[in-house]
Amino acid sequence: MLKIDLTGKTVIITGATGQLGRVMAQKAAQCGANVIIHYSKNESAARMLEEEITSYNVRAFSVQADVTKQESVDAMREKIEKEFVMPDIIICAAVIQYEWVDVLSQPIEDYYSQFESCVMHNVYMAKAFVPHLKAQKYGRFISINTECAYLAEANCSAYTAGKRGMDGLLRCLAKEIAADNITVNEIAPGWTISYIDRENGTQKQESYDRIVPMGRRGTDEEVANMAMFLASDLASFTTGCYIPVCGGRVMPAI
Ligand SMILES: NC(=O)c1ccc[n+]([C@@H]2O[C@H](COP(=O)([O-])OP(=O)(O)OC[C@H]3O[C@@H](n4cnc5c(N)ncnc54)[C@H](OP(=O)(O)O)[C@@H]3O)[C@@H](O)[C@H]2O)c1
Repeated sequence: MLKIDLTGKTVIITGATGQLGRVMAQKAAQCGANVIIHYSKNESAARMLEEEITSYNVRAFSVQADVTKQESVDAMREKIEKEFVMPDIIICAAVIQYEWVDVLSQPIEDYYSQFESCVMHNVYMAKAFVPHLKAQKYGRFISINTECAYLAEANCSAYTAGKRGMDGLLRCLAKEIAADNITVNEIAPGWTISYIDRENGTQKQESYDRIVPMGRRGTDEEVANMAMFLASDLASFTTGCYIPVCGGRVMPAI
């Protein structure tokens, strides 16, 4: 039977305390990987996740950092190097949330926050962790983009600009490190069902469901499944891709 096996690998997930990050952390553990749980403010969620992950008979390590600050990401790398194991698989999921309004009303600081959390976050993570991947001639760099970046809808300009910037950065990175056997890919979810919707019973969103060709929202599990596929050896020759997980709402042209 073909299955996703990450035994012996170590995964770091930024924003592992978030809605999507926590499911990717759980899935990585279920696939046999050791998991580095990155958090920003929600230490208690990180500790709970750490406890859950060790129940899968793999190792877990929680670490705090502000991904918008290079010195903070570098300090996280040093802590991991000293106290745990350097990761083979980098998953960048952290993002700063803000209120979406039209360009004329959007506060300027939101454009900076999206640039920092979508673009610079990935730059700092690459500078901190890719040298190790290059040295071992193996690695995966996976970032969470969004269908919004492709759609460029009204009232979404700061997020769209940040995520499109991320896309440009990662396409260049993919070419720069491909020969080192490191793949770089992006997952682009639609508006995804998470534990928050399950708690509140808000999974169904009729006006959104109607515009998705598959007629429903995707789930955190479906996004995590794609991340595990990209992290695995099954995706060994796939790099530089923006992969929608949004039920057909966006279909990038060839
Ligand atoms: N959820 C969706 O429907 C959806 C759809 C499309 C794309 N996405 C993308 O998927 C990714 C995950 O989204 P999500 O919905 O899971 O987000 P979320 O629930 O809002 O979680 C955000 C995560 O980012 C961390 N974070 C925020 N600011 C940070 C900072 N300055 N430094 C370090 N970490 C910081 C938070 O840490 P703490 O909680 O520890 O403070 C949290 O773990 C994002 O890149 C998002 O753009 C999500």
